Amino acid sequence: MCHNKKLLDFTFTLGLTLAVGSLAGCKKSEPDTGKSAAGVKPAKSAYTIGMSQCNLGEPWRVQMNADVKTAAEKHANLKVIFKDAQNDTLKQRAHVEEFVSAGMDLIIISPKEAAPLTEPVAKAVDAGIPVIVLDRAVLGEKFTCFIGADNVKIGRAAGEWIVKRLGGKGKVVELKGLMTSTPGQDRNSGFREGIVGSQIEVIFEADMKWLEPDSRKEMESALARFDKIDLVYAHNDPGAHGAYLAAKAAGRERQTMFVGIDALPHEGVAYVRQGILDATFQYPTGGAEAIETALKIFKGESVPKEITLGSRVFDKDNVAEGGQALK
Ligand code: FRU
Repeated sequence: MCHNKKLLDFTFTLGLTLAVGSLAGCKKSEPDTGKSAAGVKPAKSAYTIGMSQCNLGEPWRVQMNADVKTAAEKHANLKVIFKDAQNDTLKQRAHVEEFVSAGMDLIIISPKEAAPLTEPVAKAVDAGIPVIVLDRAVLGEKFTCFIGADNVKIGRAAGEWIVKRLGGKGKVVELKGLMTSTPGQDRNSGFREGIVGSQIEVIFEADMKWLEPDSRKEMESALARFDKIDLVYAHNDPGAHGAYLAAKAAGRERQTMFVGIDALPHEGVAYVRQGILDATFQYPTGGAEAIETALKIFKGESVPKEITLGSRVFDKDNVAEGGQALK
């Protein structure tokens, strides 16, 4: 029986790895869970990945999906099924559950919010499906690998850049990303660390939920309340651009500097080149790294619990040279 099982495995797998070969190691007492003794599933000839994207309304997320697709297309044995939750947490929970019922080989999720997506991710892991969490985190430890840049570090670097640029003193508006998502929380706390000890005063702050129209509205309120705004720090480039548009409509865009995060070449970096934004900090999508990590998991290789991506700052002094890496 044990030998038959081995044979069967062999006929169903191409490129059976050595590790997997030893897995089939025939201990009568072990139930057949479809996994090896080491918890590694036998290699298959093709893999299906479910990619749960929280929304495709923002250019950065369109880029993330494109990066996943480009990386996956280099491997004939990978198929990716994309689902767009349209910024609806309940829809995204349902998408993860659907991926589990459909028996995906792996799930990649870029969750809208941390708390409500924690449970479906944990359930997928319980069902034996590896889960790569991209960009925004879930709570706790029940996932396979988290990939993202260090948002506290980016926020701190933005704070330090602002202190330097304003000569240590000024009135700042902070337009925050969705504060139930981890990048919003981290870009806020990092920024506050970065301005400690300076005379930067945050005179207005609001949650613009990562959205340009919300940011524009919040900035209209800030402009109505304050005659002098030296700088806007927005947690993403659409937010910074929305604030710029509000200031421009009020004829006040020249009195204020605008700083954002994301630095897509055709968005934030282009805004810096055009003089619309004064700086943007890169937030890489991690799409290619997610596929690279998925392939390692499929091969039975161990992967780190967390992969931290680097970032760069782009401002008028360095944009022509491709920005500068954050230390
Ligand atoms: C897109 C986005 C990006 C931001 C990231 C944070 O939804 O708002 O602009 O950097 O999400 O998770």
